[in-house]
Amino acid sequence: MDLLELVKKRESCRSFTGEPVKDELLREIVEAGRLAPSACNSQPWKFYVVMSGGERMEQMRLAAQIAGNNKFAAKASAFIVVFREKPNYSERVGQVLFGREFSAIDIGLAVENIVLAAAERGLGTCILGMFTESKVKECIGLGKRDKRKVELVIAVGVPVSSVPRPKKRKAEEEIAVYLR
Ligand SMILES: Cc1cc2nc3c(=O)[nH]c(=O)nc-3n(C[C@H](O)[C@H](O)[C@H](O)COP(=O)(O)O)c2cc1C
Repeated sequence: MDLLELVKKRESCRSFTGEPVKDELLREIVEAGRLAPSACNSQPWKFYVVMSGGERMEQMRLAAQIAGNNKFAAKASAFIVVFREKPNYSERVGQVLFGREFSAIDIGLAVENIVLAAAERGLGTCILGMFTESKVKECIGLGKRDKRKVELVIAVGVPVSSVPRPKKRKAEEEIAVYLR
């Protein structure tokens, strides 16, 4: 599929059928994340993949919700919990020298690769920035001593509809300045 078509097809899915997602597909989409670019090739990410069919699923479906938000996660069939790790030495030196911090950008690039790869395979995803972090960590077996922050959770599943909604986006003239 042409990349622009794929970008148009990808959308936040908030209606999943509840059918399981094949392990192989999850591995493929995580591979797309692994191959993402990052500042100084730091790769400051770690993915915990809660796969379909396990006993963690019900706990994870609840942990992905918070204060009445993300109720649709109750029908997702897999979750990718994304941690932002400490960047490598070069990226940290860059931060000190130039006062620029790239690891959140790096995470975003990896996550976009993942959701695009999922869309190409007919899977629905929703990137979640809101979730019950303590429950997410508990669900994937991390103790309280693990101080790492869960950056994002990606809900994955089989979408009820494969027809994309029209995108609500700012107009081209608002977001781009073309110069010669
Ligand atoms: C960092 C980030 C966090 C988000 N968190 C949530 C969330 O917790 N719940 C939710 O339903 N959507 C969440 N979204 C999805 C956005 O609302 C969505 O991407 C945006 O409205 C554009 O719609 P589209 O993804 O369908 O194109 C998040 C998206 C991003 C990039």
